[in-house]
Amino acid sequence: MTKLDIVTNAARMVAPGKGILAADESTGTITKRLDTIDVPSTEDNRRDYRQLLFTTESASDYISGVILYDETLRQSGSDGVPFSKLLWDKGILPGIKVDTGAKDLAGSAGEKVTEGLDGLRERLAEYVELGAAFTKWRAVIEIGAGMPSRACLEANAHALARYAALSQEAGLVPIVEPEVLMDGGHDIERCAEVTEAALQLTFQELFSQNVVLEGMVLKPNMVVPGKHCGQQNSVAEVAEMTVKVLRRHVPGAVPGIAFLSGGQSEVEATAHLNAMNSLGEMPWQLSFSYGRALQASALQAWRGSADNVPAAQAALAHRARMNGLARRGEYSENMEQDAA
Ligand code: 13P
Repeated sequence: MTKLDIVTNAARMVAPGKGILAADESTGTITKRLDTIDVPSTEDNRRDYRQLLFTTESASDYISGVILYDETLRQSGSDGVPFSKLLWDKGILPGIKVDTGAKDLAGSAGEKVTEGLDGLRERLAEYVELGAAFTKWRAVIEIGAGMPSRACLEANAHALARYAALSQEAGLVPIVEPEVLMDGGHDIERCAEVTEAALQLTFQELFSQNVVLEGMVLKPNMVVPGKHCGQQNSVAEVAEMTVKVLRRHVPGAVPGIAFLSGGQSEVEATAHLNAMNSLGEMPWQLSFSYGRALQASALQAWRGSADNVPAAQAALAHRARMNGLARRGEYSENMEQDAA
């Protein structure tokens, strides 16, 4: 297999029983995460933390790919082996976040558009040299009074499609991430409505830009109520509404859908994925590409100390296994007690 076969690699990224670890926090975001455990965000500390994630023994049984940030793709472990080689050697595909962040959308109060298209072709060529097999670009859509506007949805969908086409041209599988945020007091129906609009426009633009659907992975939010909504929905309701929305808007040619966790707890994100995979036959693989919902316990266990690396790795291995089971609809919450 050549590493630049996008259809083969897209299928590998969403292989049954496995999912993706999102470890592509920008320097600003990882600094916020390290602040929560009182660890200074130095380049060495960031490297040590990522190294503990990537060297977790059994994780590769459940992890098909890892999304990296620019700094990490250029780093090596303490043994001098570049992280991208370490991952390839474990059978894990390295990927790279290539957007340059969500910036204020002109003419709109509070909405964002993700940037990073200028010079992207040249950056992608370098990322191929550095060993990347796939890319990620995240669009951020906020729900609020009069938001999102059509202008926000269209601008983000267009950028996602331009990015996806450039990635495929370079031989890299694009992860297309239109994230409808959980922030806000909206109910689950409003989340469904906005997610439908975002997906519809995204696939319209992907089609216009000649993106090969078989060689991409979609990374959407689940359909959930806003964080500050008084209404609670059951795991079954979230699973059913999410799958209903996806069935309406995601062509069956897409090999897989890898959800973001978006602020859900580790257990919620796993339970929702499990419930969806218990709903029967789907046109696509339903997988995970979690950041916080895979790393939260590991980060808390580590607290910046080498002595805690085994405990942190045990926490990550446990979450990876739980999500691997959820990929098959074989997870139940009482398995959480087996945590190391
Ligand atoms: P979360 O799972 O923490 O939302 O992160 C996933 C991600 O990659 C966001 O772009």
